[in-house]
Amino acid sequence: MYRYLVILGLLATPALAETGGLTVPDHPEGTVSEAQGLDAWSRIEAVVTHPRCTNCHVEAGAAPMWSGPEFTPERPHGMNIQAGDSRIGAEFLPCQSCHMTDPGPNMVPHAPPHTGLEWQLAPAEFVWFGKEGAAICAQLRDPERNGGRDGAALVEHITHDAELRGFITWGFAPGGDREPAPGDLQSHLDDMAEWVAAGMPCP
Ligand code: HEC
Ligand code: HEC
Repeated sequence: MYRYLVILGLLATPALAETGGLTVPDHPEGTVSEAQGLDAWSRIEAVVTHPRCTNCHVEAGAAPMWSGPEFTPERPHGMNIQAGDSRIGAEFLPCQSCHMTDPGPNMVPHAPPHTGLEWQLAPAEFVWFGKEGAAICAQLRDPERNGGRDGAALVEHITHDAELRGFITWGFAPGGDREPAPGDLQSHLDDMAEWVAAGMPCP
């Protein structure tokens, strides 16, 4: 019996480690009111409309954006960069040729080095750039437009990203003189969990 418990324990350990260093809050059903959910949404909205997030969440055919206080006027990515259908510039000049995994001090942004994934644009159906918060809210809770995710999967996406990709992590800690998305990664996760538990209310 004990041996089985040890095996179960070993199986459980990696699952715990896969939270990317984050603590996932547990909200039992019915414990979060709609008002609390809307309050959480107002903080989420400030994140998902922030340039550190929207610059990669652009529509099909659009270039990545250079927007935010660092970029005046805001403009499409310089150097004639196009993402193409691949969203990684494979048809043109791959993002990775400049956005290297371990970029050193030259300031071309990349996700944290432990995440080996290529720098790339979000899929075209996840377009946030230029949208109002309410429109992004409706889109986020629509599985047709969020990559087929229910609320739990949206929350899990954050820990998954922290573990494997690091794009959301980067948005809160972009380095250099870049303005980070408001708040921090853990509080964004807390807000998302609260919003989901409240039934994903939109303003
Ligand atoms: C020729 C080099 C080069 C290539 C190729 C390149 N980039 Fe960039 N990218 C840069 C530089 C340099 C900056 C930073 C500009 C600055 O801070 O003034 C940048 C900044 C960005 C930003 C803005 C980040 C922020 O601060 O919010 C995004 C988004 C971006 N690139 C996406 C992409 C994507 C997606 C691709 C591939 C389709 C790509 N880039 C290809 C050089 C490149
Ligand atoms: C380097 C470009 C890049 C940046 C910067 C970026 N994302 Fe994304 N995002 C992606 C890619 C690529 C995907 C698709 C990957 C996936 O589904 O796992 C994605 C998917 C998502 C999704 C799931 C799909 C959806 O729209 O429902 C969410 C949520 C998300 N990003 C949130 C954020 C937030 C919040 C920020 C800022 C803190 C951010 N992203 C910054 C590239 C980026």
